[in-house]
Amino acid sequence: MLDEAWKLLNGSVAEFKGKPVGTLAAVDKTTADLNYDQVFVRDFAVSAFAFLLNNEDEIVRNFLELTLELQIKQHRMDCFVAGKGIMPASFKISKSASEEEIIPDYGEKAIAKVAPVDSVFWWMYILRAYVKKTGDLDFAHRKECQNAIKLILELALTTRFDMFPTLLVPDGSFMIDRRMGVYGYPLEIQALFYISLMTAREFLINNSENKSLIDLVIRRIGHLKYHLRKYFWLDFKKLNQIYRYQIEEYEENALNQFNVFPASIPSWVYNWLSDNDGYFVGGLGPSRMDFRFFTAGNLLSVLGSLADDKQAQSIMKLLLNHEKELVGEMPLKLCYPALKGVEWELLTGFDSKNIPWSYHNGGSWPFLLWSFAAASIKLKSTKHLNEIISIAEKRLASDHWPEYYDGVHNKLIGKEARCYQTWTIAGYLVAKTLLKEPHKIGILTFDE
Ligand code: GLC
Repeated sequence: MLDEAWKLLNGSVAEFKGKPVGTLAAVDKTTADLNYDQVFVRDFAVSAFAFLLNNEDEIVRNFLELTLELQIKQHRMDCFVAGKGIMPASFKISKSASEEEIIPDYGEKAIAKVAPVDSVFWWMYILRAYVKKTGDLDFAHRKECQNAIKLILELALTTRFDMFPTLLVPDGSFMIDRRMGVYGYPLEIQALFYISLMTAREFLINNSENKSLIDLVIRRIGHLKYHLRKYFWLDFKKLNQIYRYQIEEYEENALNQFNVFPASIPSWVYNWLSDNDGYFVGGLGPSRMDFRFFTAGNLLSVLGSLADDKQAQSIMKLLLNHEKELVGEMPLKLCYPALKGVEWELLTGFDSKNIPWSYHNGGSWPFLLWSFAAASIKLKSTKHLNEIISIAEKRLASDHWPEYYDGVHNKLIGKEARCYQTWTIAGYLVAKTLLKEPHKIGILTFDE
């Protein structure tokens, strides 16, 4: 199975002018390409981690160099020119007999024109992993790289109307690139933002020109960490507090800072939490706590040390306490539970791809294995890792490496899933490599 996975991953490599520069999202000959024949930045992150962990650094470096150029291109929707410094969600390599061309998509071509906010942050994470693996700090210190980091920070740290240190984004601005009620302050973006700030702190050259920017980064790291650990964290004790919250508290030190109405606690949460577990909620804004559990954001919080030690252990316990739903017949569910009925109608806009327990709305995405394996190894809690990987091994190859699975227990191959989805394959390879060589974990993790 490992040999097949490597063969498929290598077969997905896209070349530009004779050099490998990325991996295509899927190489599935049976379904229409749509945009799966492109290199997605977020998907490539998983391939990059697989390559780096296996000493194939060149493709990652080429990818970083190519995307550096794409970042400074101007792009627009209609006549509106979008902000400088954005990285594309994906790019296509178009080849004719006489010419090769890169066609990036910054969101202006994407379905529903969603803004790929996460791309800049995944790019930073890939850069960090590359430098950590190769020791090539000079690469990060190159003028173009420093410039890229500064442009990204400019986009993320610009003061606007915010009261919170979290980043305000529109719906569908990350891996969930459709309307799913993940607007405002979704966890996955906050975790990636945090990882990027940590990366910036490591890589920005410490000179007088950068001093005030570095100070700003360090301050934001502290504020973001405080905010997430204090307000996003949910365990049984906190739930009980929220259950007893007063409302309409007009003061700076209100207990119910966001005026969350206890009546908005969904009934499933009461039975979901045990004494020994907890998680970061999906999002938090004025009178809105998104109680859903999002696996990627929680695992990224563990990898980046946004979660403190105890919180990190609690997140892993929660995943195991709910193994039946979250792992089920195929790891791992993207979010729990699914939106149904009127909630689905209002929050997805009647999205027929995101029906309950399908795709982003409670489907299971095997690519998440990479972050589960990495978090387990970071926390030295690998007791269940083997077993969970073997659950995936039962079907992944014979099902032709699907993009996602459906159903409450992740039993069905996803309704519209592509086969030979590259990050499914790469996610498996990262998990297997880390299992064999756990000492390499530092490439993907951050210390407090
Ligand atoms: C889908 C997913 C997105 C992924 C893309 C390519 O659009 O929602 O997260 O990057 O497919 O695999």
